[in-house]
Amino acid sequence: MSTVDYAVQSSVAVLTVAYPPVNALSLAVRAGLGEGVARAIADPAVKAIVVIGSGTIFIAGADISEFGTPNSAAEPRLQTLQAQFEASPKPIVAAIHGTALGGGLELALTCHARVAVQSAKVGLPEVKLGLLPGAGGTIRLPRLTGVVVALEAITTGRHIGAVEANKLGIVDAIVFDLKADAIGYALKLAAEGTPPPVRDRNDKITGVDPKVFADFRARAGKKWRGQIAPARIVDVIEAATTRSFDDAKAFENEQFKALMESDQRKALIHYFFAEREARKIPDVPADIKPLPIRKVVVIGSGLMGGGIAMSFANAGIPVKLLDIDAEALARGMGVIRKTYETSLSRGSITQAQLDERFGRIEPVGGYDDLGDVDMAIEAVFEDMALKQKIFALLDKATPPHAILGTNTSSLDIDQIASATTRPDKVIGAHFFSPANVMKLLEAVRGSKTSAETIATVMALGKQIGKAPVLAGNCDGFIGNRMLQYYTVNAEYMLERGATPEQIDRVAEQFGMAMGPLAMRDLAGMAQAVNVRAVRKLTLPADERMPELVERMVEAGRIGQKSSAGFYRYDGRERLPDPAALDLIRAEAQRQGIEQRSFTDEEILARLFHPLVNEGAKELEEGIAIRASDIDVAWVNGYGFPVHTGGPMFWGEQIGLDKVLATARTLGAENGQTRWGPSRLLERLVAEGKGWKDAPALIAAGL
Ligand code: CAA
Repeated sequence: MSTVDYAVQSSVAVLTVAYPPVNALSLAVRAGLGEGVARAIADPAVKAIVVIGSGTIFIAGADISEFGTPNSAAEPRLQTLQAQFEASPKPIVAAIHGTALGGGLELALTCHARVAVQSAKVGLPEVKLGLLPGAGGTIRLPRLTGVVVALEAITTGRHIGAVEANKLGIVDAIVFDLKADAIGYALKLAAEGTPPPVRDRNDKITGVDPKVFADFRARAGKKWRGQIAPARIVDVIEAATTRSFDDAKAFENEQFKALMESDQRKALIHYFFAEREARKIPDVPADIKPLPIRKVVVIGSGLMGGGIAMSFANAGIPVKLLDIDAEALARGMGVIRKTYETSLSRGSITQAQLDERFGRIEPVGGYDDLGDVDMAIEAVFEDMALKQKIFALLDKATPPHAILGTNTSSLDIDQIASATTRPDKVIGAHFFSPANVMKLLEAVRGSKTSAETIATVMALGKQIGKAPVLAGNCDGFIGNRMLQYYTVNAEYMLERGATPEQIDRVAEQFGMAMGPLAMRDLAGMAQAVNVRAVRKLTLPADERMPELVERMVEAGRIGQKSSAGFYRYDGRERLPDPAALDLIRAEAQRQGIEQRSFTDEEILARLFHPLVNEGAKELEEGIAIRASDIDVAWVNGYGFPVHTGGPMFWGEQIGLDKVLATARTLGAENGQTRWGPSRLLERLVAEGKGWKDAPALIAAGL
């Protein structure tokens, strides 16, 4: 079969796109559709045309892997095809199942009607790639939905369910037997006369108050955190209401081209492929079948355990929530219920979904009844003896095929696995809080974890909507191991004279949701003092741990909870506090550190370059498989701005030589053992190479 199959059924030409895996609009597909439509128009026996996708999807949009290649600009370009569709004297109906995204939906918008099965989804997700819908989406969608809906839908890129799309006017009818019903719909249109194309429908875009756009920019702009595409999208949608179709289209083209050239677009497309690449593990053969996970038990009903249980319940997997403390269990179930009720009150789930999801979580008080689970995830506090005890119990209580996961964020997976008779089935399954929201799932392989166990957890991660990344077994794994450099460095800078406001402003302008010091205040510092006391014991001799957090706690400034920390708080509003600065200055004096001023550029380098340096060390040690895996971990677990592509991609874009220079400075200031440059980084810079060359250098022993 070619990429587009042509068949005539009941006087309707059915064009079936068959270009696995997602029927992307590659040159071959565009050409096939163009030829198919021309043939149907020329055939007197054909009254109408249906475009449908084979496999599980309608059309997922432009072929992203074609971007920047001659194929993407070759005729028929998508816009040429769309003009041909709109000019067709015979009605064309898009028959949508699975998803119609980006260029896929934009092509459907040039059909004379769209029908969809109930489970289908449509959307214009280009913003997630740093783009805008460049094939008329910003001009045609508002003609169907009105501008308010279009602004929200295109700036978020969300997938819209068929039923909602039908209500919004994007989809004309919900059907059951997709092909047959689409043929029927097309024949009906042919009998009634081909309706006007979407481009000629102007009623929803005339007389729109410009205030709608100003209000939207003011309201939604806060969420864009440095991304450029959303603002451009608003501009082109506004143009759709003030200019003729063709003028607005020309403006859309111009803006699309500008975004296509942007660093953010490159970074976001890197990220798109990085997330998919991370699921592929070189020493886990692709033909290894993941075990089906039909039921899970989560041990520990605290915030973490509850969030993990919700992640499974939300994805349709029944889960037992186990806690031997009946009161804690009741409390945990109460928190889960409340979280769902909040989602209900915000309108993000329906009452039926609440009942269904909550109903999938079964509270259990002990280990007696675990014979039906395929996987266990332990989420109790970080105590090796306790974890080993639980794993020994799970080893006895669960069926022999069951996988045993631990949510530890730092403990040794092998030591935990040694408490069982199945170390091949033990794996780290590190979720991030709140686990029902955060997308990162850091899977951690022990020395005996089997390929099947890894394949299962990576597939399961995707199934429950997470971004799984595989890490090696070390203190802090991929993410937390790097985190300390970011947070500790912020304190080193305070000692040397930077202010909390300046450091947090630089981090937030870069795109972090919250700067490191505001984050410390939010998380609270009392607990951090204990963690640091333990960490201090293993610190290399050439390193000094800053003690600002200790001084803050001694002064009763434990963060937001005490309305004072690195800032003072009026309710939740954070305000600069001279008292905090006095305290910092006094501590610097005590340590004999001279204070000076910092430029924003230096703060940015000192906050984020060490992440890249430590990431390189993880690559050297085989803790992370690829630089892009580290990007996926940091975007999803720590809020690193996705439009930079993640720390490693960003580091390469700004220049690894700059990262190396910072590592040399910080090594001299803070201790070479941990802060000094990675050998890999030194080699890459010396040889003018990048991350793609790292595996060969590492394999050759650096
Ligand atoms: N182009 C090229 N390859 C694509 C693709 C696309 N648009 N969409 C997905 N793929 C590839 C993936 O890279 C992956 O390849 P590997 O198996 O080699 O890793 C494979 O298809 C399957 O993808 P997923 O693992 O993501 O499969 P899924 O079933 O979980 O999700 C999907 C399917 C919802 C379509 C998801 O792939 C997706 O969101 N794709 C991107 C859609 C998109 O952004 N479209 C807009 C494109 S830009 C555009 O259209 C510009 C314009 O205005 C003209």
